[in-house]
Amino acid sequence: MTRITTTDIREMKSRGEKIVMMTAYDYPSARLVDEAGCDMILVGDTLGMVVLGYDSTLPVTMEDMIHHTKAAVRGSQHALVVGDMPFMSYQTGWQDAMVNAARFMKEAGCQAVKLEGGVRSAEIVQKLTEAGIPVMGHIGLTPQSVNQIGGFKVQGKTPAAAVQLMHDAQALEQAGAFAIVLETIPAPLAELLTQRLSVPTIGIGAGAGCDGQVQVYHDLLGMFDAFTPRHAKRYAEAGALIRDAVSRYAADVRSGAFPTAKESFKMDPAALAELRPGTSEAMRRRHALGLDA
Ligand code: KIV
Repeated sequence: MTRITTTDIREMKSRGEKIVMMTAYDYPSARLVDEAGCDMILVGDTLGMVVLGYDSTLPVTMEDMIHHTKAAVRGSQHALVVGDMPFMSYQTGWQDAMVNAARFMKEAGCQAVKLEGGVRSAEIVQKLTEAGIPVMGHIGLTPQSVNQIGGFKVQGKTPAAAVQLMHDAQALEQAGAFAIVLETIPAPLAELLTQRLSVPTIGIGAGAGCDGQVQVYHDLLGMFDAFTPRHAKRYAEAGALIRDAVSRYAADVRSGAFPTAKESFKMDPAALAELRPGTSEAMRRRHALGLDA
């Protein structure tokens, strides 16, 4: 099976075909998302919150991202895998960005990287794309800047902020980004940006007018209760299912109902008989097993 390419993603926009993206962080989640037919897998730095238990994405390291992206690449065959560049792996200048983006491509084996910021990140996007590294942009609510933004708030609500977002999107497009994530911005603004841009927009909390959508695995499956963003729709209660299954297992172990003969392994009765006291062979084997002490 061949993987979807960035060219395929751009062509989907021209055909008016919706693009489906979902996060995944390891082999089993990537495999399920891939088998379900998603076009792109984002190994997002949301890893920090939904998998590693931090309260923001800021502590996530390059080592964390490479480790998890490798697993997601192994778990998928069809989807285009995008590795998310963590906080301070690119903000320090395009040379650092180049070194770290190259690690995503060479060590983790993904097909593209994502980074946050519009005008301020455009030079980095240009250098990476010139070097042959496809880049997905990310504007609107950019969680790596949460301390500067002052919380997880809707962005682009005033005319000035909306115009700035338009400049950000155009700067990324001109710099060569193959797609742009629009996070938590008003739906009519996202629709306007989508119409004005030649590259696909991938929305999260940006309404139905985007070219595609991205959702976080644990939000969609009901596996993360610490915080549920308003834009997330739960399609399953997998967390409740897992908790219930594990409690039933624990109860069975405690009551002796698990394991049964079905989950156990037999032994040849003749071999077992040799271990019973009374025969010289049995004594030799019991001695070997330390059972006659
Ligand atoms: O890290 C992530 O999962 C993301 C998505 C929320 C777009 O950046």
